Amino acid sequence: MMKATAIAPANIAFIKYWGKKDDALRIPSNPSISMNLSAAITTTTVEFLEGLKKDVITFLPENCTFFPRPREKGAHTMTENEAARISHFLDLIRKRANISLRAKVVTQNTFPKGTGIASSASGFAALALAASRAVGLVLSEKELTILARMGSGSACRSIPDGFVLWEAGPPAGGSLDTSYAYSLFSYTHWDLRDIVVIVTEEEKNISSTGGMADVETSPLWQKRQKEVSERIEEVKDALARKDIVLLGETIEEDCLSMHEVMQTQQPPLVYWTEETRQVIDLTRSMLTNGIPVYFTIDAGPNVHLICEAKDEGRVLDKLKDREVAKRLIINKPAAGTRIIKEHLF
Ligand code: PMV
Repeated sequence: MMKATAIAPANIAFIKYWGKKDDALRIPSNPSISMNLSAAITTTTVEFLEGLKKDVITFLPENCTFFPRPREKGAHTMTENEAARISHFLDLIRKRANISLRAKVVTQNTFPKGTGIASSASGFAALALAASRAVGLVLSEKELTILARMGSGSACRSIPDGFVLWEAGPPAGGSLDTSYAYSLFSYTHWDLRDIVVIVTEEEKNISSTGGMADVETSPLWQKRQKEVSERIEEVKDALARKDIVLLGETIEEDCLSMHEVMQTQQPPLVYWTEETRQVIDLTRSMLTNGIPVYFTIDAGPNVHLICEAKDEGRVLDKLKDREVAKRLIINKPAAGTRIIKEHLF
């Protein structure tokens, strides 16, 4: 049977990926570092079948066990672009395995899609492992990160365990296998929390892939490129020494730098809303009041609050009864992408 199921965590970037030096191969302009998220998981089953004329892809309703209620009733409706992107990715695997069979794909998230939690990361990581295993390809972790990268850049960081670095490869770029991801530390290394404050569950209207294409139109882009390698070293050091202040200050700096670039590109990309600012202010006031908690934001309005496990209770206490915090997703560091025996169909 040509069938396999994988689960993959989303990840939150401590140092962000925004801009590519090779669009087709999805080779990033700069390295990035992330942490896998324990509560933001995608499960995907892939089966290659005789007699299918095209790939049949279904998104099941979110299985948000940690939320008071699921967001949607019916299956998630998929756009033509999303379906085409998934089929195109499956073509890469078909080519490698030298088969032409189409696939049935069923996928389910534990978190709202398209709101600045990287559903494309966990989605393509799970798809890369499930589909390659279903056709009988046995890939090394490094090869799997390279494959997942071809679906969505940040997906390569969801493959290895825990805290992950994604190498940008040499400046010239253009070679498929020089840009890959590997684990810096296992998920057991440091008991951090990423408390995602959901301020809206509406899907964003511009994808990261689309937005990133215009990055070089920002006058701040070159400056960001110069600073990033220093911040990479700082985050590696902060993780190694479990220094929450160094980690927090560096990730805030990098987040602000990425959003400055986004907001000054042509056309400008503004992912923040009034609610985003309110959560930033609230985080700042917690810090001033002695709680070491720091923010970071991806391509969406929701805010990720990073703190140590010992401070989780105090942070949650400050967030409770705040109207702006519609829902919270509490993440610990997580292992990487893996095969499971239970299929979704
Ligand atoms: O790989 P994509 O297209 O999901 O891009 C992710 C970009 C950011 O989330 C904004 C930053 C990052 O490094 O995750």
